[in-house]
Amino acid sequence: MTEKTPKLRAALDGVPTYKPGRPAAPGGPVAYKLSSNENPYPPLPGVLESALAAAASFNRYPDMACAGLMAELAERFDVPLSHLATGTGSVGVAQQLVQATAGPGDEVIYAWRSFEAYPIITQVAGATPVPVPLAEGDVHDLEAMLAAITDRTRLIFVCNPNNPTGTVVRRAELESFLDRVPADVLVVLDEAYLEFIRDENVPDGIDLYRTRPNVCVLRTFSKAYGLAGLRIGFAVAHEPVAAALRKTAVPFGVSQVAQDAAVASLRSEDALRERVDALVAERTRVVAALAGQGWTLPESQANFVWLPLGERSQDFAAVCERAGVVVRPFPEGVRVTIGEVEANDLFLRAAEEFRKEL
Ligand SMILES: Cc1ncc(COP(=O)(O)O)c(C=O)c1O
Repeated sequence: MTEKTPKLRAALDGVPTYKPGRPAAPGGPVAYKLSSNENPYPPLPGVLESALAAAASFNRYPDMACAGLMAELAERFDVPLSHLATGTGSVGVAQQLVQATAGPGDEVIYAWRSFEAYPIITQVAGATPVPVPLAEGDVHDLEAMLAAITDRTRLIFVCNPNNPTGTVVRRAELESFLDRVPADVLVVLDEAYLEFIRDENVPDGIDLYRTRPNVCVLRTFSKAYGLAGLRIGFAVAHEPVAAALRKTAVPFGVSQVAQDAAVASLRSEDALRERVDALVAERTRVVAALAGQGWTLPESQANFVWLPLGERSQDFAAVCERAGVVVRPFPEGVRVTIGEVEANDLFLRAAEEFRKEL
């Protein structure tokens, strides 16, 4: 008798596996993890206390409406409560967005290479991924993305700044793009790294959302706010998109610890600014040092840099690992998070050694 196995959806067969940035091996020579764009700082002042207080009642379900956090966000961004939705990290919210808009036969457009969750969540929904290659300079090719729109397109991700290249889409080109996307196609501006942007010509997606019902902005507490382990992100979108996000949310998905830590983080704005400024200063230092070594990189506005090394990416990652830092190699290049000063120094030393061997 042939063993029967549960029938799984055929759509899952081609779904790529999410590859998390590797941690430093315990007891090994590697000391620093620069592979997941995490924040090297401990929680902001007051955050651990709020989280610990919330932990005392984790025999209870969390507030499903995330009311305290929603009120805080509504005031901060001057948006109606009904235009906000939270989720288990912004990747959770992104998955809810795809579920809400696309199924079999529908298409989801995104730049490639970009955030590796986009093809996964698209295929899990049974929809068809439409990756559009980055243009010269590792930037979004918005004209090609417009040309890729068909009557089956339901959602377009614009990752600004782009993970893993760090490049940005500026105001004029983004507005011109949004003006030409059909009103019934949702554009998701994924702004996971917004706080690290210093280019004044990059728009704040929330300004663009205000007059455009087909624009949704995704934000996270994982990067600048340093709450990656708590899994909390949110979206700002008009009705009915925000309402659809509430329908596709996992009930009670966002823990009370995460909600209270997020509120405390929002109330620690001065300390946040100081830390983000310090990371941006480190980015400037690292980029200048790499330029001094002879590297040519795309300009990063995020908390990482991109070395377009192509097939030498794995070799470079191995050199970094021997020097004490884990970085993130992709087929097209290597992404290195801006971390602690000592970690950045180890990375710079590895980069120098690698260039000498070229
Ligand atoms: C562009 C982008 N969007 C979203 C996320 C997801 O972050 P989280 O789910 O932790 O909010 C990441 C994380 O690396 C990212 O790079």
